[in-house]
Amino acid sequence: MDRGDHAAGQVAQSEAGGDVSRFLAVQEFELEARRRLPRAVYEYVAGGAGDEHSLRTNEESYQKIFLRPRVLRSVVPVDLSQELFGRPLPVPFLLAPAAYQRLMHPEGELGSAQGATRYGVPFILSSNGTVPIEEITAVPGARCWFQIYVQGDRDFTRDSIARVEAAGCEAVCVTVDTPVLGLRPRQLRAGFRVPAGLELPHAMRLREASDPGLHSAVTWRDVDWLRSVVKSKLLLKGVLHPADAELAVRAGVDGIMVSNHGGRNLDTIIPTIEALPEIAEQVGGRVPVFADGGIRRGTDALKALARGANAVLIGRPYVYALAVAGADGVARCLSLLIEELRLAMALVGAGCLPDLNREVEWPAPAAAKSALMLGNSPLHGHGG
Ligand SMILES: Cc1cc2nc3c(=O)[nH]c(=O)nc-3n(C[C@H](O)[C@H](O)[C@H](O)COP(=O)(O)O)c2cc1C
Repeated sequence: MDRGDHAAGQVAQSEAGGDVSRFLAVQEFELEARRRLPRAVYEYVAGGAGDEHSLRTNEESYQKIFLRPRVLRSVVPVDLSQELFGRPLPVPFLLAPAAYQRLMHPEGELGSAQGATRYGVPFILSSNGTVPIEEITAVPGARCWFQIYVQGDRDFTRDSIARVEAAGCEAVCVTVDTPVLGLRPRQLRAGFRVPAGLELPHAMRLREASDPGLHSAVTWRDVDWLRSVVKSKLLLKGVLHPADAELAVRAGVDGIMVSNHGGRNLDTIIPTIEALPEIAEQVGGRVPVFADGGIRRGTDALKALARGANAVLIGRPYVYALAVAGADGVARCLSLLIEELRLAMALVGAGCLPDLNREVEWPAPAAAKSALMLGNSPLHGHGG
């Protein structure tokens, strides 16, 4: 997130991505991105905080959850759609905010948004994005949300929000898990620097963006203030404690994103898939709940949806896909995840999102067991 001196060779070069149909799993994009990207940029994307325990456990926690299908249910065709904030959402995916995307591919955030638009998926533009929001919302059919780090400068924050809302942004996601920047040894060792010449049309002025003290000045009182400033939907990104989820709902937010920043800030932090059930239970459907971190397969998305997420955010996989093939890569990444989710739902006996709940897990949590025979679980994942 911090900017530094110009680092030669870190800006992505234009290179044709080739036929993306040869990628059959989203993880394959990482191998190819690693080959193509300047090393420092790759390490910036791939790396996590500290010893990277959380980076790994975000993914591994999904692998430790076993699925136990129900059979002989009507599951074809699987319906992945739902209504979100009064609009249809065709598939339960969003693209997470990720900074500096023109370092990964010349199309930058525009490529990501174009890829997402092919599936009706909202793209969340980072406040450290490299493409102005007006260019993204100009893409026919694009759905754009905006992520912001709130700083001490309220005028700047107010102006940023007014600008993105005027451009057609549907929601503002305030990242609340970064009072100070995490230490990411891999990117430090690789000498990652944001090139001085890189355009950051929505970033704070440099002095402030690199000052962690200003991040830490943000508190719940600022959420009240933000609620009065944000006219569109207001979400908090980076909530992991049910008590904070409750405070957020009481503060009038429209949605909660369960996230540990992809393991990039605090190492040994709780894996998001483990934090999700308590938060979903606490929120109880009053507002939608989202989750990200470590989602690499349709089955991972299914597990998060079963544990109470209304939709999931994809981070690194689409950034790698962008690096490999721009908008086509991002679209391929999404199509793989969507198809995997569709198949997994059919195979566990869920024909639509409301069919998903923790009965699908083995061993099922106690409350799900008592409802097992009824086919109607109190641990239903979908409210709000
Ligand atoms: C390269 C990169 C840049 C990111 N930049 C931001 C950012 O600017 N703002 C933010 O709130 N989160 C940022 N994140 C975190 C993502 O929004 C998301 O929470 C995380 O990547 C999800 O985990 P996953 O990568 O395992 O899918 C970034 C993540 C990556 C990989």
